Amino acid sequence: MNIPAPTRSVSLIERFRDRLPFSAGDPIVTLGEGSTPLVLAERLSERVGAEVHLKLEGLNPTGSFKDRGMTCAVSAALREGAQTVICASTGNTAASAAAYAAKAGLRGVVIIPDGKIATGKLAQALMHGARVIALRGNFDQALDLVRQLAERHPIALVNSVNEFRLQGQKTAAFELLDDLDGRLDALCIPVGNAGNITAYWKGFVEAGSAPRMLGFQAAGAAPIVNGAPVAEPETVASAIRIGNPARWEEAIDAMRASHGAIRAVTDDEILSAYRLLAATEGVFCEPASAASVAGLIKYGAEGAERVACVLTGHGLKDPDAALEQAGAVLPCEPQLRAIERAVLG
Ligand code: F0G
Repeated sequence: MNIPAPTRSVSLIERFRDRLPFSAGDPIVTLGEGSTPLVLAERLSERVGAEVHLKLEGLNPTGSFKDRGMTCAVSAALREGAQTVICASTGNTAASAAAYAAKAGLRGVVIIPDGKIATGKLAQALMHGARVIALRGNFDQALDLVRQLAERHPIALVNSVNEFRLQGQKTAAFELLDDLDGRLDALCIPVGNAGNITAYWKGFVEAGSAPRMLGFQAAGAAPIVNGAPVAEPETVASAIRIGNPARWEEAIDAMRASHGAIRAVTDDEILSAYRLLAATEGVFCEPASAASVAGLIKYGAEGAERVACVLTGHGLKDPDAALEQAGAVLPCEPQLRAIERAVLG
């Protein structure tokens, strides 16, 4: 069958090929990732006294920033002849790995902490046909196990310990600089396994830029802030419920080299930023993503004139968290009087 070239957006790898480890003949597994919107947050800007932009990474194909790294990790796995890709995940990496594996015709296996991932992410991983394994343990244990497994078997590990993941994720820094004409003073970003802050810093350095990297961990899962692993991390922001980040050292390097900081925000602060973004900026992100804005509100812009907050995942990923935070719906009888009362009252 002769399949015509589809009309489509350029894949992330093609768009940034000169800055990524892929050459012209390499297979590319793409779902149209990257090129996400950057939105000026007027009310937030007023509140913190700086020009604040929101990088909407939830608008990637599977609803999180993971797709930037996954297009690279899965394309490289295909190039190397892998048949199976595997990851440990708090949910988004699982959804992304499952989708890109499906697109590539590879087997996808994801290990998740039992009962601790958001509903939307679980639905995605299952729908994309991955084998979903619920570990009776936390993310850190899952990552430790998949690392051992990938050493023993010919399975491609697509967690952010995989260099291709960072290569793909660094492209968000390029996009930010493009959209802001190269001028950015500080980047606010949630920190879990610390792959993303590492990737952004890599991108900024490669582009000759050095905004302050301001990373935020959830207070109940803040190993880098505390300076010690957390054995039983706990937070409403399930995506960053991580007690022993794989990219810990690199995150510290990024923080020091950029004169930035990695600090903690409480669950209440995260949820308050989560509601604020949805209700006053029209942007629905997941709780972990709101940690970046919670941190900006808590600690202030600290002299930065132009700030970008990375909103890492879409709000629809975690409908349960949203419904717990949101107002109630109004029941109504199907009569004009009743609807008038409901609408105008
Ligand atoms: N925000 C969201 C929505 C995430 O899913 C993650 C990580 C982070 C922030 C933190 O990024 O780990 O690079 O520091 N999620 C991983 C996962 C751990 O398995 O989906 P990080």
